[in-house]
Amino acid sequence: MVDVLGLGLGLTLVFIAVALHVSKGTEWRAPDDISQEVLERRAETVPETDFPEPMNRSIGGGGGAVAVGGGAEGELAGEEDEEETGFDPASIPDDEVEYYDVEYVNEGETIEVANNETLLEAGEDEDWDLPYACRQGQCLSCGGKITDGDATEYVRHSNNETLGEDEVEKGYVLTCTAHPTADFSLETNETP
Ligand code: FES
Repeated sequence: MVDVLGLGLGLTLVFIAVALHVSKGTEWRAPDDISQEVLERRAETVPETDFPEPMNRSIGGGGGAVAVGGGAEGELAGEEDEEETGFDPASIPDDEVEYYDVEYVNEGETIEVANNETLLEAGEDEDWDLPYACRQGQCLSCGGKITDGDATEYVRHSNNETLGEDEVEKGYVLTCTAHPTADFSLETNETP
């Protein structure tokens, strides 16, 4: 009888152990279900985003790149502004406007150019077909060369985002933004 009881007790313990094992095994399947649940929850959050997805892409990618580019340009322009500007021709009072004799070598004429007008404008007033594009000192299309030497002694640029300091010292100017400060000879359609 004792053996039977012992056997029964042993079997009972085995069943309990198996039951516990099965029970734990069931719990171990749970992570799969949780992962699925997490995925579903994540999917549900997408439509609740404040911005449409294309906007999000734009903010995270291209937008940032543009902002960086713009900043770099801004800094560059700022540095050049310090060198070349501080001069606003529109601020010259009428009774302080001065005129200088500028020889346009290729056009074969010498004309008076006021210090509140550009070399390009003065030439166009003569109906000369002078080259230009931006008219804002941002390209080289209107380039010319002062044959007398260092251009800083003969003109002031209201804006120069193209010519380097050494090029200006060699006589190169942007006729669309260059204003005379002395008499000189100019070759139009000349670039470094
Ligand atoms: S036209 Fe572009 S710099 Fe003069």
